[in-house]
Amino acid sequence: MHRLTHKNMIETQLIQIEKTKRSRLPETDLEQLEFGKTFSDHMLIMDYRDGKWSSPKIEPYRNLSISPASSVIHYGQSIFEGMKAFKNKEGRYGLFRPDKNIERMNRSAVRMCMPTIPENVFMDGLCELVRLDNQWIPTGEMASLYIRPFLFAIDEYIGVKASKDYRFMIITSPVNAYYTKPVSVKVERKYTRAVKGGTGFAKAAGNYAGSLYPARLANEQGYDQLLWTDATEHEYIEESGTMNVMFVIEDRLITPALSETILDGVTRRSTLQVAKDWGLQVEERRISVNEIVEAHRSGTLSEAFGCGTAATIAHIRAIADGDNMMELPPIEERKLGNKLMKYFTDLKKFRTDDKHGWMIELS
Ligand code: COI
Repeated sequence: MHRLTHKNMIETQLIQIEKTKRSRLPETDLEQLEFGKTFSDHMLIMDYRDGKWSSPKIEPYRNLSISPASSVIHYGQSIFEGMKAFKNKEGRYGLFRPDKNIERMNRSAVRMCMPTIPENVFMDGLCELVRLDNQWIPTGEMASLYIRPFLFAIDEYIGVKASKDYRFMIITSPVNAYYTKPVSVKVERKYTRAVKGGTGFAKAAGNYAGSLYPARLANEQGYDQLLWTDATEHEYIEESGTMNVMFVIEDRLITPALSETILDGVTRRSTLQVAKDWGLQVEERRISVNEIVEAHRSGTLSEAFGCGTAATIAHIRAIADGDNMMELPPIEERKLGNKLMKYFTDLKKFRTDDKHGWMIELS
C-alpha cells in the first residue's frame, strides 16, 4: 500500500498495489515498437458504484471480464485521454502537462453524462502507475510511454439511459514515433467528424468510431488522413485525422479557433504558446479551404502540420481538395514545424529550460 501525498487531497486515499509476479519487460524490445501494441506490466482500476468512487488499485495488466449487457458495448458511453511520459538517457523521467488531460477528461465526462474523476486521485494514481512501470519508458529520441486513461459504463442493462456504475482505468504502452513520414491529407467535403451541439470537443470513443469509414475511403484513394471541414458548409477547416491542424501563411501561424466541434488539444495549446514566445503572429480563427487554396496558389503557404499527443507535430506534405493536389514545400524547409518538434523533444527529455513548468518530473 502507498499513502497518497498530493497536496490538493481532500481525504486520505490508499492505492492498493498488486505487483506482477513476472515482468514481461525482459522479453520486450523497447527499441522495436509498433505504436499501441505493447503494454507495460501494470494498470490502474477504480470503480464508481452506488454514487461513489472506490479507492484506486494497481494490478498486473490483464484482460477484463465484463457482462455482455454492459451498456458501454451497446451505446458507447466511453471516453478516453492520451498523454505521455518521457525519459532521457540519464534516467530522468516525467509527464508532460498531465493536469490539462485530467481537466479535459472531466469535461468529456460531463458531456457524456458520466461522473467526473477527483483530480487529485487521478493525478496520484497516474504518477504511482508511471513510477511503478518507469522501466517501461523507452529512452529513444522519439520514444515515450503513451498513457491511456479511459472511463466506461458498466451497468448490466440494455435500456437506453446513462449508466449508474462506471470503471476508470489507466493502461500504458511504450511507443515510438506515431508517423514515420509526412502525411498527405484529403479535404473531406461529404462526411462530418463533429457538429455544433454534438460531442466533437470531448474525447468520446464514438467520435473516433464515426471517423473510421471516411478515413478508410481516403486511404483507398491513396491519402493518409482527412482534413475535416465544418458540418454545414464543408468549407471551414476543423481538424486533421485525430489531430488539431495548423498552417503557416506569410509567417503567421493560423489554426481553427476552439469551438464545440474542436478538441482542446494539449499539444495545440502548447504549440500556440511556444509560437507566441518566439514572437510569431498567432491567429485562432475560422479558416476556409479557399484561403488555403489561394495561399498555395500564391506561394505563401509554407507549412501545414497536425499536432496531437501521439505524433506531437505531423508534417503535412500534400493537401488534396477534389482534383486539386497541392504539394507543400519540402520538409527540410519547414522552419516552424521542425523547430517546434526539436523544442518539444528537448523539453520532454529535460534538455532545455522548462519556462512554463510543463514537465512534472517523477524521477
Ligand atoms: C492524439 O494524437 O493525441 C490522438 O488522440 C491519437 C490517438 C487517438 C492515438
